[in-house]
Amino acid sequence: RKPVTVPGLRAMKAEGRQIVMLTAYDSSFAWQLETAGIDVALVGDSLGMVVQGHRSTLPVTLDHMVYHTAAVARGLSATLLVADLPFMSDRDVPHALEAGARLVGEAGAAMVKIEGAAPHVLDAIKALVERAIPVCAHLGLTPQSVHKFGGFRIQGREQEAAERVLKEALAVEAAGADLLVLEGVPAALGERVTQAVSIPVIGIGAGPHCDGQVLVLHDMLGVTPGKRPKFSKDFLVGRDSVAAAIKAYADDVRSGAFPAPEHCF
Ligand code: KIV
Ligand code: NA
Repeated sequence: RKPVTVPGLRAMKAEGRQIVMLTAYDSSFAWQLETAGIDVALVGDSLGMVVQGHRSTLPVTLDHMVYHTAAVARGLSATLLVADLPFMSDRDVPHALEAGARLVGEAGAAMVKIEGAAPHVLDAIKALVERAIPVCAHLGLTPQSVHKFGGFRIQGREQEAAERVLKEALAVEAAGADLLVLEGVPAALGERVTQAVSIPVIGIGAGPHCDGQVLVLHDMLGVTPGKRPKFSKDFLVGRDSVAAAIKAYADDVRSGAFPAPEHCF
């Protein structure tokens, strides 16, 4: 398999080929993603919830992210590796650059992901991109804003809120982001954002019209405690291995079978 690259993701959008992204937090599961032909592995700060058992992603530190990113990097070869900037590591440009340097230079990520489009986030995107660290933006239901939102709530339902998300998408693209994760928004807004920007849009609970999809590994294997999010699907049901479940997820994203209407808002 040819290595997946940042320019290669743009080519996939241009050619209408769906991008398959999935989280991983350790080397063995990274290897499962690699062998299933997943395009992009994300070391998400969701590890604070599914690995560490916290109620939010806020307690995750840069040291935690570096540790897990380095482990995942050892399990990958062709799959592109993206790592989250954890809560407050983007508080200003020097901290964002330090986080980028460690996640890319030390741990082996090819790209870092940053939530929101506040002025300091746009500054961080510009500073990282100027230093040749590609950035994935993350808009909509950004989990690091859980206290501002009052819970993990769908964003962009009202007209004004939808226009705001659209403006933010154009702003992160203008700042130099190469990829955009759009989480927890109505499918109609997912479609508008995907058409409005030239960078690939990866949806999670953002409908079927995005340029690709991402899920949290533990959700799509049905091992996350509690209720599965509406936008996720347990791909292990009816299959006899983790490898088969991950392969089915990739196949269903590429064919357009996932997400189905019951996974959308
Ligand atoms: O942390 C994470 O897993 C994420 C995805 C849900 C996009 O940011
Ligand atoms: Na995250």
